[in-house]
Amino acid sequence: MLAKIGRNDPCWCGSGKKYKICHQTFDERIARIASQGHKVPSRKIIKNAAQLAGIRESCKINIAVLDYIEAHIHEGMNTAEIDQIVYDMTRRMGGIPAPLHYQGYPYSVCTSVNDQVCHGFPSKDVVLKSGDIVNVDVSTILNGYFSDSSRMFCIGEVSPEKKRLVEVTKECVELGLKEVKPWGFLGDMGQAVHDHAFANGYTVVREIGGHGVGLEFHEDPWVSYNSRRGQEMLMVPGMTFTIEPMVNMGKVDIYVDDKNKWEVYTADGLPSAQWEIMVLVTEDGHEVLCW
Ligand code: MF3
Ligand code: CO
Repeated sequence: MLAKIGRNDPCWCGSGKKYKICHQTFDERIARIASQGHKVPSRKIIKNAAQLAGIRESCKINIAVLDYIEAHIHEGMNTAEIDQIVYDMTRRMGGIPAPLHYQGYPYSVCTSVNDQVCHGFPSKDVVLKSGDIVNVDVSTILNGYFSDSSRMFCIGEVSPEKKRLVEVTKECVELGLKEVKPWGFLGDMGQAVHDHAFANGYTVVREIGGHGVGLEFHEDPWVSYNSRRGQEMLMVPGMTFTIEPMVNMGKVDIYVDDKNKWEVYTADGLPSAQWEIMVLVTEDGHEVLCW
């Protein structure tokens, strides 16, 4: 049970404002929607202005690192070089790569090539060659605030089929983003992502989704792209989460590398693509925090 807050008490969000002019009406609205049987966010995932300012600073590093990689990634480069760049740049800007040692993850970044779905280990043995598609997934901690986003890169001459997979996956994220607004549901976004992938003959990985992010690397909610409009958690101002569908050219099935328990591959060996953005639900829509 939540302690009852008086109308003139300071709001629970930490804004310093009185409850009655801050989150009281908001709480009443959430309680009404919860009573209709919907999943609603807990207070601890709703960020205040000061927390958002910290998160935005973290996001600046994430974006800068991905911009640098975008400008320098090339055929013949190995993915351990990308790992080194991410580590060096993040540290130089005062941040910490969030993946490093996270639940035992041994690198600063995930680099997932072709049929690797996610969590690909950077390695000097993985040399990028013409025709490869690669996801570089960067996450940063700055002053305790987390950011997380990823982009796809096409190396040299990529086949039209793979190029289309990369482009459609990006469109999935953009269409999902359009559905992000307060008092909607995460399923509105999830269905938009899924429908576009499906309409293009692709499948969307079920077992791994997006997540709340900001005060922790992975917070509530878990974000599915196999959800339906009007379902899943209510979106409210101050929520921050990722949209990061993994879209497979072929079958939906995946497997995890038996030896390292991290790297995820498509079961049929066909390529998979992923873009990840981090979004904030605002009073009147959304703000992309990093991409
Ligand atoms: N950035 C990814 C995510 O969306 C990958 C997790 S990083 C790892 O959560 F450390 F867990 F590999
Ligand atoms: Co993520």
